[in-house]
Amino acid sequence: MKPTRFLNSLTLLLAGNARALNPIPLSPQTPHNASDALLRSFVSFSIELWSFPDFAGNLSAPNTFSYDLLRNIGEIRGDNPIIRIGGNTMDFTIFDPNQREALKGNYTLNITRDYPFSISMGPSFFESYQTWDNFSFIHGFNLESNDTKGYHTLVETVPLMCKALKGNRLAYWQIGNEPDLFKTFFDRRPAWWDEEQFAREWLSKTRLIKELVRNSCPEVIENGKYMFYAPAFAAGPGNTLNISKAFDGGLAEDDNIAFIDMHNYISGSTVPGVTLANTLMNHTSTVHSVNKHLNQSAHLSYLGIPYILGEANSLYGQGASGLSNSFGAALWGVDFNLYCAATGIRRVHMHQGTNYRYASWQPVQRANVTKGTKAPYYGNIAVANVLGDISRNNTRISNIDLASDHETAYAVYVDGKLARIALLQLSQYNYTSNTTNQPATRPNSTFIFQVPQDSGVKKIFVQRLMANGSDAISGITFDGYSYNYELDEGKPVLQNNITRGESILVGEDGLFDIDLPWSSGAVLHIN
Ligand SMILES: *[C@@H]1O[C@H](CO)[C@@H](O)[C@H](O)[C@H]1NC(C)=O
Ligand SMILES: *[C@@H]1O[C@H](CO)[C@@H](O)[C@H](O)[C@H]1NC(C)=O
Ligand SMILES: *[C@@H]1O[C@H](CO)[C@@H](O)[C@H](O)[C@H]1NC(C)=O
Ligand SMILES: *[C@@H]1O[C@H](CO)[C@@H](O)[C@H](O)[C@H]1NC(C)=O
Ligand SMILES: *[C@@H]1O[C@H](CO)[C@@H](O)[C@H](O)[C@H]1NC(C)=O
Ligand SMILES: *[C@@H]1O[C@H](CO)[C@@H](O)[C@H](O)[C@H]1NC(C)=O
Ligand SMILES: *[C@@H]1O[C@H](CO)[C@@H](O)[C@H](O)[C@H]1NC(C)=O
Ligand SMILES: *[C@@H]1O[C@H](CO)[C@@H](O)[C@H](O)[C@H]1NC(C)=O
Ligand SMILES: *[C@@H]1O[C@H](CO)[C@@H](O)[C@H](O)[C@H]1NC(C)=O
Ligand SMILES: *[C@@H]1O[C@H](CO)[C@@H](O)[C@H](O)[C@H]1NC(C)=O
Ligand SMILES: *[C@@H]1O[C@H](CO)[C@@H](O)[C@H](O)[C@H]1NC(C)=O
Ligand SMILES: *[C@@H]1O[C@H](CO)[C@@H](O)[C@H](O)[C@H]1NC(C)=O
Repeated sequence: MKPTRFLNSLTLLLAGNARALNPIPLSPQTPHNASDALLRSFVSFSIELWSFPDFAGNLSAPNTFSYDLLRNIGEIRGDNPIIRIGGNTMDFTIFDPNQREALKGNYTLNITRDYPFSISMGPSFFESYQTWDNFSFIHGFNLESNDTKGYHTLVETVPLMCKALKGNRLAYWQIGNEPDLFKTFFDRRPAWWDEEQFAREWLSKTRLIKELVRNSCPEVIENGKYMFYAPAFAAGPGNTLNISKAFDGGLAEDDNIAFIDMHNYISGSTVPGVTLANTLMNHTSTVHSVNKHLNQSAHLSYLGIPYILGEANSLYGQGASGLSNSFGAALWGVDFNLYCAATGIRRVHMHQGTNYRYASWQPVQRANVTKGTKAPYYGNIAVANVLGDISRNNTRISNIDLASDHETAYAVYVDGKLARIALLQLSQYNYTSNTTNQPATRPNSTFIFQVPQDSGVKKIFVQRLMANGSDAISGITFDGYSYNYELDEGKPVLQNNITRGESILVGEDGLFDIDLPWSSGAVLHIN
């Protein structure tokens, strides 16, 4: 396609675009406010333990669709996502050595249909860890069950995990999901169970696991891989434990915490007033949500342990239809992940589960949910493309402050030089409904940038994250590619009816501009 010459500032000014007076300055070299070099596997995933056999399959029936989707990200980024298996159901699970099925559970349907509250696990569960080549995992152990059954579950499953995750399949360790909600969510701990009690219990159980590891897979300890994601606090509503006090209580005293792990959701799926436009497609709301972690991370910096989000997604309660499963939520996912990356959150695990409304994909066919790639996945793909190959420790990212709820920009630097820009236009544009004051044609926002005249930046290639509107749940593409299951089981397939291959020439004055339709994103590659 023919490159579009940038409109000159005067034309834009005459067209009423105030930005023309005030182009967004771009630093051609890494600015001071950029992140540290990004860590490997920045975009990672978390899968609900109960749903893991659906996502991964087993040795006789591996789930190759999930594998293809995960590999797409690995191929773009130079390293595969790390897969954490956990969530609420890890603390509801008891081991039964005689059970033939991987998992069996009893639901409490008046509370949720999404997962059972009581689960038994058989040895075949561990087959699911062996279906995807070249992936590494974190298995979530049960901290909550503090009785003999809980004790036996640890004693019997540690050796099985050692065997299933031999070699490079083991990433890190974890015990306990959101223990800061144990007192408020189903009375799972007495009132006297405070941060120090939690820390003592966590230490005693991780010491027990270490003894079991010494017997079953001592090489893990020898190779320095007996390291945890902890404390996995929800830090949301109902939280009764303070993370600083947990560390004051001795949580890190065995020096076995690799990452301070906290969870994050922007809000809840049934919280009154939560909307796509105001809650998710709102940069300010994302900034507020992540900034809580930045404050916490600053308080804990004396520990010298990197801070990550080991479980995150849009709305807790497994998401809401019409919000978390829409293209608007995919755009939110891009903004959320890039803002995290730019501000020092070292890794984000996007949480998944069968039938979950916020899931990036549905791994199996179910009565009410079609097996397939869902809108949020396109956000994961976009983030991977923005970050590029991060396996060489030479990529940094900076948030460009546009002082707007609805427009955001990020600049990526590779080996100190400007390499890519990510842009999001987050104004809601519905295409299925035309309820109120929505313009007849989809409006654009013009972003005008300026690099220094001597920067050598001459030409820019564009990839777009696109759909018919923020309410689209299908027909989504990144750079003209679809990853839909129906096409090639999740492998990328080029769509011939989507515009791609755009390029922009940079003016002599260092100015260039790009139009983004409302509710869309773009990645600009600097040549
Ligand atoms: C393996 O997965 C297949 C397909 O879901 C299922 O029919 C089979 O029972 C599973 N095997 C075990 C041991 O769970
Ligand atoms: C759900 O049902 C159980 C009994 O089946 C009952 O004990 C419990 O109170 C109910 N919970 C809610 C939230 O309705
Ligand atoms: C589920 O309920 C059945 C019937 O009450 C019981 O036998 C079984 O042990 C329960 N399973 C779990 C995992 O709680
Ligand atoms: C958990 O079990 C241990 C060992 O039996 C006990 O000392 C501790 O008090 C228990 N914790 C709670 C909260 O009951
Ligand atoms: C965006 O979120 C912020 C912070 O939660 C809120 O103050 C603001 O009103 C929201 N903007 C819109 C347009 O809803
Ligand atoms: C599917 O949806 C229908 C209608 O909402 C509901 O009655 C049914 O229970 C759902 N099935 C499952 C398996 O969730
Ligand atoms: C990147 O950094 C990690 C951890 O600091 C190190 O293990 C790895 O070898 C580095 N990779 C390269 C290509 O320098
Ligand atoms: C970071 O620095 C760049 C270059 O100086 C600037 O354009 C950008 O707005 C800054 N970001 C923030 C969040 O202040
Ligand atoms: C878009 O659709 C949502 C959900 O139907 C509705 O709440 C919202 O008002 C619509 N927005 C516009 C601008 O029409
Ligand atoms: C949506 O409503 C606006 C305002 O009533 C109207 O101008 C526009 O033509 C409608 N758009 C569509 C696609 O129907
Ligand atoms: C938005 O930009 C595209 C591409 O530059 C252009 O074709 C379209 O007419 C613009 N739409 C509006 C409403 O300005
Ligand atoms: C492109 O073509 C596909 C397959 O025919 C169709 O499903 C999709 O809606 C089209 N997209 C657009 C934006 O026209």
